[in-house]
Amino acid sequence: MLTVKGVSKIFDTPDNGTESVRALEDVSLDVKEGEFFSIIGPSGCGKSTLIRIIAGLIPSYDGEVRIGPERVNSPHPWVGMVFQEESTFPWRTTVGNVEFGLEMRDVPPAARRTKALEMLDLVGLGGFEHRYPSELSGGMKQRVAIARALVMEPKILLMDEPFGALDEQTRIILGEELLKIRDKLRQTIVFVTHNINESVQLSNRVMVMTARPGRVKAVFRIDLPHPRDSTIIASEKFGQLVGQVWGALRDESLKGFKQMEKTNQGGRP
Ligand SMILES: Nc1ncnc2c1ncn2[C@@H]1O[C@H](COP(=O)(O)OP(=O)(O)O)[C@@H](O)[C@H]1O
Ligand SMILES: [Mg+2]
Repeated sequence: MLTVKGVSKIFDTPDNGTESVRALEDVSLDVKEGEFFSIIGPSGCGKSTLIRIIAGLIPSYDGEVRIGPERVNSPHPWVGMVFQEESTFPWRTTVGNVEFGLEMRDVPPAARRTKALEMLDLVGLGGFEHRYPSELSGGMKQRVAIARALVMEPKILLMDEPFGALDEQTRIILGEELLKIRDKLRQTIVFVTHNINESVQLSNRVMVMTARPGRVKAVFRIDLPHPRDSTIIASEKFGQLVGQVWGALRDESLKGFKQMEKTNQGGRP
């Protein structure tokens, strides 16, 4: 479904200094249809760069990304994307936000309203359709962002730390709901996170990246049962898997911290 082969990326005009930045080096991965694939790595290691390349938002890179048979250089119609940062339009209501992409596709008004309302129900926002983003909590806004991506019926959903700004309980609950939605709609999901528990709770496989330049350090198969709800986090197996992922990540996190100190920008990668 999605193949990444030998992808490297150097930013010649970095946003954090004068030298060029080697963000990714020789990254390869293969995501199967219906799989929930997580990418975890230290801050600044190139996770967002990788998912943005997959999304077709960074057209120039070395190596190859393929979705189905096609090489990716621009946004692919099969792909939907959810970001960490607020990606709702503040001037549109909840339902207006979800309808946006359908408007762009010239879906007639009645049909797009029906679809948007269905999707809002699915993400647990039934009854909130006429609220504005400013009237919603952070978790609800992320539900809107998810509904907005899903209403376009993507085969592949790319998520870049979608729950990163949320408190832990909201994050666990939204994760559980995301799995339910996935079981119903059967998307393939590529999910970037810096949260180890979250990666294990949700995924079929977790890929650990090295500190910058981001390379593939290890890939773990998460053989926890499906369908899966959040009570899984209490199981012994869950704890073991979290330990394994952290085992691969620990050194890279330490390197990541050192890199941050060097750039001396108050914590910015
Ligand atoms: N558009 C850009 N131009 C220049 N440098 C960038 C750009 N985007 C990211 N970078 C740099 O690439 C590196 C990886 O960034 P990013 O992919 O955002 O990391 P992560 O998402 O893992 O925190 C960082 O050093 C960052 O400053
Ligand atoms: Mg990022």
